[in-house]
Amino acid sequence: MKTLVIGTGGREHALALALSRDPNVTEVHVAPGNPGVEGVATLHAVDPLDGQAVATLAVSLGAELVVVGPEAPLVAGVADAVRAAGIPCFGPSREAAQLEGSKAFAKEVMAAAEVPTALARVCDTAEAVEAALDAFGAPYVVKDDALAAGKGVVVTDDRQEAVDHAARCDRVVIEEFLDGPEVSLFAITDGSTVLPLQPAQDFKRALDADAGPNTGGMGAYTPLPWAPDDLVADVTRRVLVPTVHEMARRGTPFQGLLYAGLALTSRGVRVIEFNARFGDPETQALMALLDTPLSTLLHGAATGSLAEVGLPAWKDASAVTVVVASENYPAAPVTGDVIDGVEAADALEGVDVIHAGTARDAEGRLVTAGGRVLAVTAVGDDLTQARERAYAGIELISVRGAHHRTDIALRASQDA
Ligand code: AMP
Ligand code: GLY
Repeated sequence: MKTLVIGTGGREHALALALSRDPNVTEVHVAPGNPGVEGVATLHAVDPLDGQAVATLAVSLGAELVVVGPEAPLVAGVADAVRAAGIPCFGPSREAAQLEGSKAFAKEVMAAAEVPTALARVCDTAEAVEAALDAFGAPYVVKDDALAAGKGVVVTDDRQEAVDHAARCDRVVIEEFLDGPEVSLFAITDGSTVLPLQPAQDFKRALDADAGPNTGGMGAYTPLPWAPDDLVADVTRRVLVPTVHEMARRGTPFQGLLYAGLALTSRGVRVIEFNARFGDPETQALMALLDTPLSTLLHGAATGSLAEVGLPAWKDASAVTVVVASENYPAAPVTGDVIDGVEAADALEGVDVIHAGTARDAEGRLVTAGGRVLAVTAVGDDLTQARERAYAGIELISVRGAHHRTDIALRASQDA
């Protein structure tokens, strides 16, 4: 099968790497991609937000499966343009991607499908914001209704900070605070059949011990040794299946990757958010352990034939991924710094260095080009070994001013 992945980030590198190792895949193309993808795929320049350009590229390559990675092209309708050109495409339509594109829409779908989530109010005015903050009390949770690459959410005890964040957004969703650990549970769906992946955990805050601002994600691991045995079955039954059925009932079937960001609260599982695409960096860890050929799952979803594909199989191992972020991420990341040591880290046993915000400068050197620069992903027999391998890789990589968390999967490895 000839495949084309759209996007530039770590998620797209991880997906391209998995496809390049898939026996059913003959060609992997990525557009626009990043320097890390060069080793496993052919790169093409394209504007990922331009559906016509993506469809034209897919046709010219004879692609048999297109995978749209990030949310912005999905919300822009790129998957629709590819499908209109007659090519199977993994990823929701513009309308279905609103499950991520608008937090207010997601809340509406959850209410209709009776999916457990935080109580929330959609606020358009400063008065409504103040009233909602006082109704729910501290800690305050204020979310930009629009796409914000994981950075539109402020959780704070400081009422003024909550008010100020709301004032910077057109429209916000204010909701009750959910306590308890967070889990990312992904499902592959063709619009009716739902195949859950194994749970992962993401580290959203910039600094160790969950201090600092929210980011797109500073690291992840899978599986979760501490998760309840019935977590996947429970979430599938109460969250994933009802949501997929509600989207179909509305005439906007959701096909692609449904990402449920969950809080395991003292009162049970609650959805924090939905995303309409693979999580980043959870995907880096998940792909390292996926045993089922990825193309089988994605093509099954894209062609409505997932009922014939069984539940995905996983390696009996653990995976940890640690993100290296550039100076000043997430506020105003500094770019253009030289990255050293990637090859040495990549050569370590069990380790893959997954690129995200990297580029080549005029002299061909690898330099930083974004906030999250790369992720060192390692597989081990257990979380302790996976952590050791990932951090051994981190030790070999040097980037001026860069930072990473030192506690990815630490607590879980001690509990296990
Ligand atoms: P979101 O973009 O909705 O995933 O929010 C980003 C992060 O903010 C989440 O991963 C949580 O850590 C935090 N967060 C969002 N909503 C809530 C909530 N209702 N209660 C507590 N924390 C939240
Ligand atoms: N890791 C969080 C996200 O992909 O949104």
